[in-house]
Amino acid sequence: MLSLRVILSLWVCGLMLATVGARAQDAAASRSLGASTEIKSCLNCHDDPKVTGVLHTAHSVKGDARTQVDTAGCQSCHGDSQAHMAKPAEGQARPSPEIVFSGPHTSPTEQRTKVCLDCHEGAARTHWQGSQHAAADVTCANCHSSHVVQDPVLSAVSQAPVCFTCHAEQRAAALKPSHHPVVEGQMSCSDCHNPHGSTGPHLLVGTTVNETCYGCHDEKRGPMLWEHPPVQEDCSICHTPHGSVQASLLKQRAPYLCQNCHDSTLHNSQPFSGASIPGGSAPSRMAVLRGCLNCHSQVHGSNHPSGIRFAR
Ligand code: HEC
Ligand code: HEC
Ligand code: HEC
Ligand code: HEC
Ligand code: HEC
Ligand code: HEC
Ligand code: HEC
Ligand code: HEC
Ligand code: HEC
Ligand code: HEC
Repeated sequence: MLSLRVILSLWVCGLMLATVGARAQDAAASRSLGASTEIKSCLNCHDDPKVTGVLHTAHSVKGDARTQVDTAGCQSCHGDSQAHMAKPAEGQARPSPEIVFSGPHTSPTEQRTKVCLDCHEGAARTHWQGSQHAAADVTCANCHSSHVVQDPVLSAVSQAPVCFTCHAEQRAAALKPSHHPVVEGQMSCSDCHNPHGSTGPHLLVGTTVNETCYGCHDEKRGPMLWEHPPVQEDCSICHTPHGSVQASLLKQRAPYLCQNCHDSTLHNSQPFSGASIPGGSAPSRMAVLRGCLNCHSQVHGSNHPSGIRFAR
């Protein structure tokens, strides 16, 4: 004969199983994507953390009317998408949302860009239209990740790798011995470039190369008592901004750099001293080691009364 105790525990077990069963049924019902014809909210079906990350970003600030998170947060970027949210017709595939940013159903570039610009036109994006990136069919989501808590392109330590996915040449340069501290995360590409468009050449933040450089190297701006014309004209005549095997980001080293322009018959163009001619094997003392810079050390210009030759 079964004891009361055994009967009781069987009963409890049965009750538990029934509860678990009911819960399982609930879960199944809530995951049956679009089983009813009723329109469900996006989060009913999209609860993958890769998607819900967006709820922890600036686009989901509760109470910020601009991001509309209380009502239609997802729709602000993906479009109204009523057809996507409803149960598909029998035997039909679920239609995609109005705007899809990746994968096989990706929407046309103009559409993906427009939805972001609707809220973000102006400010840093004033010159987006007609910019090199817009002209090359690059869109906002090529650089921005909207569903991750920290968008990598917004931080100096993680920005460059995003740019390097398309700009391999600059990646190679950034790894050369002399470079701006970009790969070290102390500076970013966007310190010199506005990727959204600019009034300067090459998407530079300044209206010219020099205005961009003066932002940090103001001591080179002048005016100087004795100016060296190429310095005032364009720093990139002698420097390459992304990286060089020469010290000080130079395109070439002295004396060759200087001899591109100073090629008179005077000392500045003689790689070999006259004393050694006709053999010509002894290097001129003007050109040994850093040659020109040993004497003309103020190559960016001089404020010394007798600095006309940039020697002081
Ligand atoms: C009733 C369930 C359901 C609802 C509600 C729903 N989705 Fe989906 N969604 C799906 C399914 C199923 C897929 C197919 C791909 C998959 O397995 O994720 C999908 C795919 C997507 C995709 C990828 C589209 C593609 O074609 O590659 C996006 C983007 C998306 N949904 C966004 C949304 C947004 C935004 C909302 C709210 C406006 C929403 N979904 C509401 C079920 C739903
Ligand atoms: C700020 C704009 C924005 C908001 C708001 C937004 N998304 Fe997205 N969504 C994107 C972008 C851009 C992508 C492309 C991948 C990426 O950048 O992470 C994407 C990708 C997706 C994908 C993968 C398929 C695809 O289109 O690439 C799904 C699914 C999705 N979003 C659903 C949602 C849901 C659900 C919500 C609301 C909880 C939402 N999104 C809110 C911009 C947004
Ligand atoms: C419905 C309007 C709206 C849409 C659409 C929208 N955004 Fe935003 N976005 C905002 C608001 C509001 C903020 C909060 C920052 C602010 O005060 O401007 C923001 C912030 C951002 C930020 C800064 C985030 C941060 O952490 O500082 C980026 C980057 C951004 N959006 C990119 C995008 C991209 C890319 C798209 C298109 C895929 C997009 N946004 C679509 C309204 C929008
Ligand atoms: C080539 C890469 C790239 C593209 C394309 C791009 N962005 Fe950005 N975006 C950045 C970078 C880098 C920053 C950080 C800028 C900084 O630190 O000054 C940024 C910052 C932002 C910010 C936050 C700071 C601010 O200026 O308010 C918003 C909003 C934004 N982008 C929106 C957009 C929109 C909208 C588009 C498409 C029209 C877009 N971005 C296209 C790289 C890009
Ligand atoms: C110190 C300022 C500075 C930084 C930092 C910088 N750039 Fe530049 N970039 C320039 C200047 C100046 C030019 C135009 C003159 C030149 O190329 O010599 C330029 C040109 C470019 C060009 C066009 C090159 C061509 O040959 O037409 C690309 C692409 C570019 N930069 C990408 C990047 C990327 C990606 C990063 C970050 C890894 C970056 N830049 C960091 C100053 C900078
Ligand atoms: C999806 C690919 C892609 C990404 C990501 C990207 N770019 Fe570009 N970028 C291009 C294309 C394509 C062009 C136009 C063709 C060219 O000049 O190489 C361009 C042009 C440029 C130019 C202008 C070149 C010139 O000669 O005027 C600069 C500067 C630049 N990108 C900087 C950046 C920076 C900084 C980032 C990261 C914040 C970035 N790009 C991310 C594809 C990309
Ligand atoms: C956002 C600030 C910033 C801007 C803009 C900037 N630089 Fe620099 N520059 C730096 C920093 C930081 C260093 C590194 C200093 C150090 O390592 O002590 C540096 C170093 C240099 C060096 C010396 C490199 C070496 O290996 O010793 C040269 C040359 C240089 N910059 C040229 C330029 C030129 C040319 C431009 C304009 C295209 C420019 N910089 C724009 C911040 C900047
Ligand atoms: C005529 C060639 C030439 C031009 C043009 C030029 N530089 Fe230089 N720059 C040099 C040389 C050579 C060195 C190395 C000096 C040395 O090693 O003593 C140097 C070194 C530097 C350094 C690192 C050492 C220091 O003096 O701080 C910076 C920063 C720099 N240049 C910035 C600039 C900026 C900014 C411009 C544009 C306004 C510019 N340069 C234009 C030739 C030039
Ligand atoms: C892009 C051409 C160019 C480069 C490269 C160049 N210079 Fe010059 N340099 C000039 C010009 C132009 C003048 C002004 C000449 C004049 O006023 O007659 C000048 C003037 C000078 C002067 C003063 C000479 C005088 O007649 O007043 C000295 C010294 C000088 N440069 C040294 C150098 C050194 C050292 C280098 C290499 C680090 C160098 N330059 C690189 C173009 C250049
Ligand atoms: C040993 C020191 C010294 C070295 C090294 C040197 N110079 Fe000079 N340089 C001078 C002096 C001193 C003058 C002024 C001569 C005068 O006023 O008659 C001068 C004048 C110049 C001038 C003005 C025009 C001229 O020819 O008189 C230029 C340009 C010049 N140097 C360029 C160079 C270049 C380029 C190099 C490297 C190949 C170089 N210098 C190496 C000391 C030097």
